[in-house]
Amino acid sequence: MPEAEKIWMDGGLRPWGEANVHVMTHALHYGSSVFEGLRAYDTPGGTAIFRLREHVERLFYSAKVYRMAIPYTPDQVMDACRAAVRENGLKAAYIRPIVFRGAGPAGVAARSGPIHTVVAAFEWGAYLGEAAQKEGVDACISSWRRLAPNTMPPGVKAGGNYLSSQLIAWEAKDNGFHEGIGLGADGHVSEGSGENLFLVMNGRLVTPPAAASILKGITRDAVIRLAAGMGIETVEQAIPREALYAADEMFFTGTAVEITPVRSIDRLPVGNGKRPVTGKIQQAFFGLFDGSAKDEHGWLTPV
Ligand SMILES: Cc1ncc(COP(=O)(O)O)c(C=O)c1O
Repeated sequence: MPEAEKIWMDGGLRPWGEANVHVMTHALHYGSSVFEGLRAYDTPGGTAIFRLREHVERLFYSAKVYRMAIPYTPDQVMDACRAAVRENGLKAAYIRPIVFRGAGPAGVAARSGPIHTVVAAFEWGAYLGEAAQKEGVDACISSWRRLAPNTMPPGVKAGGNYLSSQLIAWEAKDNGFHEGIGLGADGHVSEGSGENLFLVMNGRLVTPPAAASILKGITRDAVIRLAAGMGIETVEQAIPREALYAADEMFFTGTAVEITPVRSIDRLPVGNGKRPVTGKIQQAFFGLFDGSAKDEHGWLTPV
């Protein structure tokens, strides 16, 4: 990870190397952290963060589920995100707010320890490689299932959930794929290890519903809205594995992957290799940041 100069931690900026925790931090032992990933883009109007409020709202929701009282207001956390980019002189950045249980009483159910709040910002390019946006990626169905809804809630962005993501992603990479897709406990398609999945079928978008053990992505929501604005309908429905082989186009969405086409699934090519609908969605999305599309939804917050 390319280091920046400063990190916002527990109320103010401090040098990157001094943003440390004790080894008895609860989150280190029991996975008790919740976090977010955002991107700031270098737009013609200056550096701006994409959907800042929605990400911070999801952070507070995740913290609520795990009974963590964040000792700041959402506006203060939003200001911290902006400061982490601005004060590091970053033009474009990946932003990582994280809230976690610190070192305090021992025991899995201990709740009285300190709650720490951190926001890091640093440079981070294309998540699945530079060529991925243009050429697409090779994906597979993982032998690992996603978290079942009544275990660790997959709709909450908690650190511990990402052990499941690691198993899915590593298996895929070790077998020569860029990314793995998990099925839900009921065998229907859920999502990638760190991103949502869309199919294009007969000109419509099809994506698994919230009940399919997905994290309801903020990029997923943006794609649904941008598509609607172009007259492209989205259907949220249970997707059996074999339906992936019938898709005309397929793409991943997420803050890290942005909008990345999937060119093959389980070593079968997706559609005929042409991507007219994905192309339109990519243009509408990236247009927000290069100035070729108007920010009609007010999704960009200057730093
Ligand atoms: C498991 C998982 N699904 C989906 C997403 C996409 O969410 P978003 O578009 O809000 O970044 C992410 C990324 O945060 C993720 O980790």
